[in-house]
Amino acid sequence: MSADIVSAFMQKNVFLNPSALGYLMKSRKAGEIMQAASSLERKNAPVFLDNTMIDALFVSSGELKPVVSVIKSYNEEPKKREVGHFVSYMRARYDQLRDILMNRMDLQSAISIKRATEKKTMEKTVLVGMVFNKEETKNGNFCLTLEDPSGHMKAIVRKDNKHAFEAANELTMDEVIGVTGRCNGEVFFVNELLLPDIPVAEFKKGPDDVCAAFISDLHVGSKMFLKDKFLKFVSWINGETGAEEQKKEAKKIKYLFIAGDLVDGIGIYPEQDNELEIKDIVEQYHECAKYLSMIRQDISIIICGGNHDAIRISEPQPVLEKTYAAAIYALPNATLVSNPALINIHAVKGFPGFNVVMYHGYSFDYYISNVESIRHNGGYDRGDLVMKHLLQKRHLCPTHTSSLYIPDEKHDPLVIEKVPDIFITGHIHKTAISAYKSTTLISGSCWQSKTTFQEKVGHNPEPARVPVVNLKTREVKVVKFMA
Ligand SMILES: [Fe+2]
Ligand SMILES: [Fe+2]
Repeated sequence: MSADIVSAFMQKNVFLNPSALGYLMKSRKAGEIMQAASSLERKNAPVFLDNTMIDALFVSSGELKPVVSVIKSYNEEPKKREVGHFVSYMRARYDQLRDILMNRMDLQSAISIKRATEKKTMEKTVLVGMVFNKEETKNGNFCLTLEDPSGHMKAIVRKDNKHAFEAANELTMDEVIGVTGRCNGEVFFVNELLLPDIPVAEFKKGPDDVCAAFISDLHVGSKMFLKDKFLKFVSWINGETGAEEQKKEAKKIKYLFIAGDLVDGIGIYPEQDNELEIKDIVEQYHECAKYLSMIRQDISIIICGGNHDAIRISEPQPVLEKTYAAAIYALPNATLVSNPALINIHAVKGFPGFNVVMYHGYSFDYYISNVESIRHNGGYDRGDLVMKHLLQKRHLCPTHTSSLYIPDEKHDPLVIEKVPDIFITGHIHKTAISAYKSTTLISGSCWQSKTTFQEKVGHNPEPARVPVVNLKTREVKVVKFMA
């Protein structure tokens, strides 16, 4: 029987190790297990089941249990990197984004830049290129240099071509774009400038009246960690505060996402030491786990790291380091993932679940300073505008200098390949919520009052706010704990 069970799960790209299989067979009847396996959606990437995930697979007829599948969490072994790796990495990124762009009807006839240089007259041409340079000409037009593996070409975007000009104005280096227009072999005259973007899709709604809550940036260990506010939040999420109706609403929460900066860390910004209440990283995680352990255990907590956590800062950041964060690992209801990660929640019979992209948001500072429409429309107050910008570029940090990253030779894990239903970030310590096409955008708040560093750089955090998404209606409410 055990071979049949393993094989039924394998058909869905889900794998059981001997310990998980033992646990499964001890806790469930064979028929029930086979039924759970057959009702699973086939996963795009292999998923390895652990005991918590096994529990989540079975939705009892009484109370709904959370169902969490980690679709993408970076777990490559660290290795030495050389200059050549950056070249292969950029090539991998170009290929991935070109494939996304080539799905568009108007770009399917794209040719290589080398072939475009062979054009003699002003022929209609379509290209997909990476932005190598962008300059404004004397006449107020944009002159882009586009690059692909075959060569470079100048592309002119005239200021009287309003739509393309506005798109060019928002471009930052290293983005991959599509252009249609005319080419004389030396210069490309742009008619349309097309971004990879996300398509219009169905605004998915789940079958069950359950909710997911989104928090980030606890910064436990800092003198500014807002303990009392966090305890208010814990008491609320546990359904212990407010009127009966509020308690009932809070009890609907089955998922809690924490998008990084669990602790304040050590040596992260100048003179941080003066602002630390806990000066040992292991103790910081210990304290953080103490608060998280107070949250009712039927909530599945999904956690990634941020730039204050004790992991390498280059993205993708791996899961939290066990040496330091053993206390977080010990939480029975926590799933630890990399930053970024793609997680599917609440896949139940007949419903594929919601795909959630979780990213701490370290690249946000760059786009807030360098993209005019974000800077002029609220900057740090509008994390959602950065999220929309990144979805349009289908990359979490398109420009080489916008974040530190690990150059994988074969695949760029920071490309947004799958369109998320929910996109959650942290880092800028201010909640902003909106929707872009079918994706709910949530920039998380924080649990730390203003630090001297934030004061100096002019940030205005807005702590202790918790966005809650009802997965049946997709309505988002923000619960405030500052008062
Ligand atoms: Fe933070
Ligand atoms: Fe951060």
